[in-house]
Amino acid sequence: MIKTIISLWMICESKNKTNLKFQNLKINGKSSLIGEVKISGAKNSALVLLAASLLTEEKITLYNVPDLSDIDKMQHILKSLGVKLTNETDSNEKLVINSKDLHICELPFELVNSLRASFFCIGPLLSKLGEASLALPGGCNIGARPIDEHIKGLRALGAEIKIHGGIIKANINGSKKRLIGSRIHLACPSVGATETLIMAATLAEGTTIIHNAAREPEVQDLCQMLNKMGAKIYGAGKSKIIIYGVEKLKGCSHRVIPDRIEAGTFLIAAAATYSSITVSPVIPHHLTSVLDKLKESGSKIFIKNDSISIKTQSIKAVNIKTSPFPGFPTDLQAPFTVLMSIAKGTSKISETIFENRMNHVHELNKMGAHISVHKSTAFIKGVNELKGDKLIGLDLRSTAAIIIAALTANGNSSVSGLEHLDRGYEHFEWKLNKLGAKLARNINEVLYEETKDVDKNSFDKETYQAA
Ligand code: UD1
Repeated sequence: MIKTIISLWMICESKNKTNLKFQNLKINGKSSLIGEVKISGAKNSALVLLAASLLTEEKITLYNVPDLSDIDKMQHILKSLGVKLTNETDSNEKLVINSKDLHICELPFELVNSLRASFFCIGPLLSKLGEASLALPGGCNIGARPIDEHIKGLRALGAEIKIHGGIIKANINGSKKRLIGSRIHLACPSVGATETLIMAATLAEGTTIIHNAAREPEVQDLCQMLNKMGAKIYGAGKSKIIIYGVEKLKGCSHRVIPDRIEAGTFLIAAAATYSSITVSPVIPHHLTSVLDKLKESGSKIFIKNDSISIKTQSIKAVNIKTSPFPGFPTDLQAPFTVLMSIAKGTSKISETIFENRMNHVHELNKMGAHISVHKSTAFIKGVNELKGDKLIGLDLRSTAAIIIAALTANGNSSVSGLEHLDRGYEHFEWKLNKLGAKLARNINEVLYEETKDVDKNSFDKETYQAA
């Protein structure tokens, strides 16, 4: 018994710490989900809101910050710049950020390299300290991910930017050390570039107009928090955003919006397992395009205030084309591909945002799916069922997708690549277990042998959080 408890503790303990690359999930197939799942705060909002906190010397209190490895890294990065962060609870439910002592304008290579979103610091550092130096974020498993639009926009605001040996050095010339408002036209509605430029423009002198801005809810959340801090931003959620620069920003309290991608992932998991679940809290209109596709494919959807329920008894093939908000989100393309792999009929899924976002297809075909990919389009012939297998997730969303595939499959599976999963899904397997699935995390096969007699469903929340 003691051995069992220690093993379970080790599984949980290691989750957020070391050896994620050696861990895997053992997943029972033919799962059925039932019940309600609590949706966490949005990773993509929380990351940019943490960076935006650098723009004031007063305290920012963020609520509903998800407990994720990406968020841990961002907190680490802020601390390296001289910022104080205090966590008033065990989780990140209430995080107080105090940037009064922000004084370092240089982000070391390893930090930027381990978290793309650390690039968000460039705008606030330029505005507050007049200079910033950081490594160029590289490409990643889903594509090249250039930052030319961020750079072009910052230059339009008066920043002088030099790139040499993979390092970007940005500074503001002139005695005022202040960026100057400008008219910027983005070549594509990049979420990151829109957010970088909004943060840079809030403290600039004069007015900035961003044309072809991203309209994603996370951009809107950023604008809402900045406006609470005293910024003057108009048009958030539209493709033309106007920012009247102000001299100073103050502190505020802000609640991170619910994660629409996490909610969408659970809804798709429910559809793929012919289940009935409720996700909440959510902002239903953030998920309109996803709900439309789920309905078209045969699911019944019920919306009540801040919750969405789904009931699925059949899965029909439908076509998907990812596009910027309010279109179908690229971050849910991989989970939806899983759903279509077991749908009745043939479907076509076109990925238009990232050029290399079909990492899951190889694993799905290993499980018996019939998917062929031409450029960034997947052609899917639905099969009756997938077979359990030993699977590897290669990026955040494809790992979640493969886990969904394993839940639907005939037979058990093991899924590795959990270092990706833990970047963006808070307590994913715990939440699925609560809905009735059977997933257990193992550090390695040896430990699994030691714990195989344990009822994996016996993880309770206290045990999990105690880790
Ligand atoms: C953000 C999200 C990510 C989501 C993506 C698209 C965060 C932390 N991440 O990523 O989860 O999948 O939006 O909704 O918020 N591009 C350029 N030049 C640039 C910037 C982007 O060509 O300077 C291109 C990219 O290569 C890509 C497209 O624009 O093809 C969209 O990228 P972008 O919206 O910038 O995505 P991220 O902000 O990196």
